[in-house]
This record gives sequence, structure tokens and C-alpha cells, in this order.
Amino acid sequence: MGTPTLAIIGGTGLDALVDIKLDKREIIITPFGEPSGPVTRGNLFGQEVLFLPRHGYSHSIAPHLINYRANIWALRDAGADSILAVAAVGGIRSDMGPGQVVIPDQIIDYSWGRKSTFFDGTYETRDSKVTHIDFTHPYSNALRQRLFNAASAAKIDVVDGGTYAATQGPRLETAAEITRLERDGCHLVGMTGMPEASLARELELHYACCAVVANWAAGKTDGIITMEEIETNLTGGMQQVSELIKALMSA
Ligand code: HPA
Repeated sequence: MGTPTLAIIGGTGLDALVDIKLDKREIIITPFGEPSGPVTRGNLFGQEVLFLPRHGYSHSIAPHLINYRANIWALRDAGADSILAVAAVGGIRSDMGPGQVVIPDQIIDYSWGRKSTFFDGTYETRDSKVTHIDFTHPYSNALRQRLFNAASAAKIDVVDGGTYAATQGPRLETAAEITRLERDGCHLVGMTGMPEASLARELELHYACCAVVANWAAGKTDGIITMEEIETNLTGGMQQVSELIKALMSA
């Protein structure tokens, strides 16, 4: 295991870190199978960093088929003590329009059928007793604060807080589903936030999400949501995320 370090999980729109000085790519096989790809180890603005694209290096793994357990395990194995999860989302709340960067503080999980715990007896060293992690505050406050400090240093406008709805995907939601999520108190919606966050907590890693709004959620505007629209909005948003990461690494 290397020294404690930050890992970045890239989402749609961030399949690679442009500025990383690549050291090596490590193929890590975990007791839970294979992660989305080899873990990239490199140097980013003077600090060691790990990187893993959630959907694979060629963006081919759908949200419900990602091996979340293998991803989190592999990053911990590679020496991560903190994980910054970058994620494309749909915006529900009025201040979360396309291109906006949001650091959520709560989650409601609507996903289903995903392997969502290390504590299910499938790995020999972890089957002795069932463990119920505390998940009152699903994101690491310490890592969130580091993000706010970086955002303010780099003068990047980020929304502090919001409830992330984790849906199953890969389809987008219906307008009625978004109305329901809104009634539930959700402010942004994505497909990969869970079980990523709770698995990180199970392994006692700091975990925070940097969400980039790719589109208004279904029914929030007239018309339909297109992949072209998502990609265009993500280009600008991910530029800000890159600046934010730069400031984070330089802090
Ligand atoms: N819903 C769920 N996930 C998403 C969306 C959305 O509207 N946009 C980007 N990821």
C-alpha cells in the first residue's frame, strides 16, 4: 500500500485527467472482481493522485453494471484515504441549472439490485459479524470543506449542499418521477452516487461528490433531454471541475 492519497473517480465528461503526469496504471483484482479499469497513479500539480473512470476508460460500463465494490476496494488498496467522486447530474432545484457545480450533502437512494455492501459474508475476512455503518451524513465533511476552500481560492461558483437522488438508470427519469423526487426533498439526480458513497464509508474513506449539472431534470423544461445537450453542458462544467481539482491539489 502506498502513502495515503486522494483518488478521483471520474464520471461522464471526465474519463481522463488531462494534466496528470502519468506514473503507471495498476491492474488491481479485488475479492469482489475487477474494477472499471486499471487505477491510474500519477502526479497532479505536485501531488500524488489516483484516478479511475467509473464507466471505464472507453466509457462503456452502464451505471447499474459498474462494479462499485471493486472500484472502492481497488482505490483503497492502491493507497487512497479520500475519494473525490465527480458525477454528471440532472438539476431539480432552481439554482442548479446546466453547468452548475454542486457539492451535495445528502443522498436518497432509489437504486436497486446493486451489490451495495462489503459486509454480506461474501469475503472471508468480513463475514464474522454484520456491521451497520453510520450514514447520517453520507459525505465527508472534511473533504467537502477542502473543496469549498479550493473553490473559493479559484473563484469557482459552487452550490454548498443539496440532496442527491441516486436513480437506477441508464434511462433518464419521467417527469412524474422527478416531481416525486422533488416532493421527497431531492435537489439533483444522478445514477452513480449509490452505493459508491456507502461503500467508501464502509471502508472508512473520506468521500465527497462534485456534481456537475448536465441538464435540467425531466419535465423541468419543455421538450426532451438530448445526449447532445448533456455533452455540451458538461464540457463547460467539467472545465470548472478541472480548475477546482487544480486548486485542491495546490492547496
Ligand atoms: N438524471 C439522472 N442522471 C443524470 C441526469 C438526469 O437527468 N443527467 C445526468 N445524469
